[in-house]
Amino acid sequence: MVRSDGDFLSFPEDFVWGVATAAYQIEGAWNEGGRGPSIWDTFCHQPGNIENDDTGDVATDHYHRWAEDVALMAGLGVKAYRFSISWSRVLPEGRGKPNPAGLDFYSRLVDGLLARGITPFITLYHWDLPQALQDRGGWGERATAGYFADYAHLVGRHLGDRVRHWITHNEPAVVVEVGHLWGRHAPGVRDRAVALRVAHHLLLSHGLGVEALRDAVRSPQVGITLNLSPVHPASDTEADLEAARRADGESNRLYLDPLLLGRYPEDMLELYGSLFPPFDPDDLRRIAVPLDFLGVNYYSRQVVRHDPAALPLQVARVRPQGSEYSEMWEIYPPGIYELLTRLKADYPLHNLYITENGIPVPDLPDRDGQVHDPRRIRYLHDHLVQLHRALAEGVPVRGYFVWSLLDNFEWAYGYRMRFGLVYVDYRTLERTIKDSGRWYARVIRENGLKPNGMDFS
Ligand code: FCB
Repeated sequence: MVRSDGDFLSFPEDFVWGVATAAYQIEGAWNEGGRGPSIWDTFCHQPGNIENDDTGDVATDHYHRWAEDVALMAGLGVKAYRFSISWSRVLPEGRGKPNPAGLDFYSRLVDGLLARGITPFITLYHWDLPQALQDRGGWGERATAGYFADYAHLVGRHLGDRVRHWITHNEPAVVVEVGHLWGRHAPGVRDRAVALRVAHHLLLSHGLGVEALRDAVRSPQVGITLNLSPVHPASDTEADLEAARRADGESNRLYLDPLLLGRYPEDMLELYGSLFPPFDPDDLRRIAVPLDFLGVNYYSRQVVRHDPAALPLQVARVRPQGSEYSEMWEIYPPGIYELLTRLKADYPLHNLYITENGIPVPDLPDRDGQVHDPRRIRYLHDHLVQLHRALAEGVPVRGYFVWSLLDNFEWAYGYRMRFGLVYVDYRTLERTIKDSGRWYARVIRENGLKPNGMDFS
């Protein structure tokens, strides 16, 4: 039951409290155990792409330290762990011959989690396409969707006897925009027509992947994770309101509508015109395969205005005055409530998970070796209060995963951005639980939190 007795917000009894990571951001061991290269290895190894020319070659060395990390999670009392599989670790060429050492690594990890009573949630694609598939055209090619389904089937066959919860993709919009439109993520493409083709193929691969998982795994729970944000107009003018609608179309509806309603948003198809790839109408049926849950990553909102020069969408992002900012984004806790209630109103959804939420803080250990991160506690606290509001209004949120268990490789920002509940010293790879980690452990233990103040006594 969702209760709030004024002084305490309780969450439903079976609420899933989790933490999340992704393979390339934590594993390291980029060329060990038979792993093939991914587009992120290639991208990071080209100087100038990543801040400080950081790479994921070693990252947090989770590949070797996974047992310690599982023990850390058990110590925090987390109920579930969302992690991703490195495609090129299990299929070095992206297709064809599997790598038994790679499959064994994940199998041991799953066993280690289950032995501690932690439920694994597996993401199949958290952005690290095997380089061999990129060499054949990557997500711009329809064939990649088929290879993804084969990969999903392989992993499902190996882990599906123990893993029930599966996420096909993480944040397709980021793959589309940051990877193929702005070129700031691997594979570093800057081409809107390619980006839109990639969007269609990612969605198609999701549909095929769901079918493959349902074939390989007995009674799986399958979903997809989208990064979503409420979009606010910078002013009440008609032009800004329309701009907000287009931005919502590009970041949210372009994915939600085909997945959950079986159609692309008409207004966006019209806007993109011939930039949008011609597609087989039957693809929409495959994309809209019924889901067991939707995963939502929430970090911030968007505020936009009409900008005639910003073609083709004519939308410009605005940095609202007077707001508080993290090193990456505006901090806007009510957005998680707005988003969740909007999803319930607009889409047929029975199960939702917040699969990521968190904040980068430039943490440093104190003289006493402890890491005090009240800003992170405040951020998580404020978002959980808003999430509880949505629950109380009947939004079917089943769980919440903090991004991230550990400080890790934050893509184009390298190691500068620290998101962990656990601090990682990148010289020694030593782990230290931060104050926020202990705070979260208490929220889990008490299955709720006090609405006022940080409650960190
Ligand atoms: C999300 C990504 C995740 C991490 C966080 C901060 O977009 O899914 O890997 O980088 O942002």
